[in-house]
Amino acid sequence: MKVLVSGGTGYIGSHTVVELLKSGHEVIIFDNLYNSKIETLDKIKAITGKDVKFYKADMLCPEEMEPIFKENSIDCVIHFAGLKAVGESVQKPLKYYENNITGTLNLVKLMNQYGVKRIIFSSSATVYGDPAFIPITEECPKGVCTNPYGWTKHMLEQILSDLYVADKDWSVVLLRYFNPIGADESGLIGESPNGIPNNLMPYIMQVAIGKLPELGVFGNDYDTPDGTGVRDYIHVTDLAKGHLCAVDKVMNTEGVNIYNLGTGTGYSVLDIVHAFEKANDVTIPYSIKPRRAGDIATCYADPSKALKELGWKAEYDLERMCKDSWRFAKMTLANE
Ligand code: NAD
Ligand code: UD1
Repeated sequence: MKVLVSGGTGYIGSHTVVELLKSGHEVIIFDNLYNSKIETLDKIKAITGKDVKFYKADMLCPEEMEPIFKENSIDCVIHFAGLKAVGESVQKPLKYYENNITGTLNLVKLMNQYGVKRIIFSSSATVYGDPAFIPITEECPKGVCTNPYGWTKHMLEQILSDLYVADKDWSVVLLRYFNPIGADESGLIGESPNGIPNNLMPYIMQVAIGKLPELGVFGNDYDTPDGTGVRDYIHVTDLAKGHLCAVDKVMNTEGVNIYNLGTGTGYSVLDIVHAFEKANDVTIPYSIKPRRAGDIATCYADPSKALKELGWKAEYDLERMCKDSWRFAKMTLANE
C-alpha cells in the first residue's frame, strides 16, 4: 500500500513508519517539524535501509498539502499530526483547537477532493475521561475531558465518524492509545519532548541521564495498591505494529471502527520507577508531590477487541520498555 503518514517524523509516527517500511509498504511523510527533527528521516533509513518521500507541510496551509495528493496516488492516511502537550493546551486552547481541528479539517477536505477516503486516526484513552469502568472497553461511554487537548480528540472522533454517516465510501479507524513508552531497539529514535517533560517516562529518562535531579511523584493517596496513579504503558513498537493491522482493516472495510491499543495491564508510578531501576541498574531519586490537576487514579484497557478484529496484541513487557527507553536515553537524549 501507499500510505501517507501525517506527523511521521514525530514519536509514534516515526516508529510506525519503521514498521510500515519493514513490512513492505510505501511511505510518504508530511510534517511541519514543529515537534520533530528532519534528522529522523536519516535514522529511519539507517534502521530500515529504505527511503521515505518527505514533504515539509503544515496542515494549516492546504496549499502546502495539496501537492502531496496531486503527485502521489495514496491508498490511505495515518493521521498522527497534532499538538499534544496537555498543560499547554489549557493555557493556549485556541492554538490547540485551530491546529488539531482546523488542520484535520483541511486534511480530510483534500482527501475527499482526491478520493482518498481511508483514514486511521490517533485518538487517546483521554476520551474516556474518568472512565465509567475498568478495564476500559470501547463500549465505555466517552467522558468529560479535563483539557482542550483531550477535547480535540473527542471532537475529531465525532467529525471523522460524521464523514462516514454522510458518505458510505469512507472507512475510518479510530485508535485510542493508552500510554506509549519505550523506543525502537536501535536506540536511534524515541521520545524527545522540548523543554521539561510532562509525561512520566520522558521525565524518568531525564533523571536517569542526570539532566534533572529527581522525579516528582504526583500523589500517593489514590485508591490504588500503592496509592500512586495506575496506567496502561505500552511499548511504542507494539503500538506501531497495531497500525499495520489497522491499515489492513481500513483498506478492507467501510464504516467507523474503534480500537483500544493497550496491554490490558496497569502499573503504578512506583512500579515504573522500580522496574526502570531494576532493568537498567540505575537509581531514580524521587519524592512525593501533590496530585496533578486533571489526573485520574486508574486507567487501563481491555484490548480484546483489537485481538479479535485486528489480530493484534501487545507483546513487549515492562522490562523491555524500560531497557529500550534507557538505550535511547543514553545513545540519543544524552547528546542533545
Ligand atoms: P509528536 O509530537 O512526537 O508527533 C506529532 C507530529 O505532528 C510532530 O512531528 C509535529 O511536528 C507534527 N505536527 C503538529 N502539528 C502539525 C501541523 N499543523 N502540520 C504538520 N505537522 C504537524 O507526538 P506523538 O507522541 O508521536 O503523537 C502522535 C499522535 O498521537 C498525536 O496526535 C497525539 O495527540 C496522539 N497521541 C499521543 C499519545 C502519547 O502519549 N504520545 C497518546 C495518545 C494519543
Ligand atoms: C497524559 C494526558 C493524556 C495524554 C497522555 C500522553 C493528562 C491528564 N493526561 O496521560 O491526555 O494522552 O499524557 O501524552 O495529562 N506522573 C508523575 N510524575 C511526573 C509525570 C507523571 O507522577 O513527572 C504520573 C501521573 O500522575 C500519572 C502517571 O505518572 O499517574 C502517567 O502520567 P503521564 O505520563 O503524564 O500520562 P497520563 O497522565 O496518563
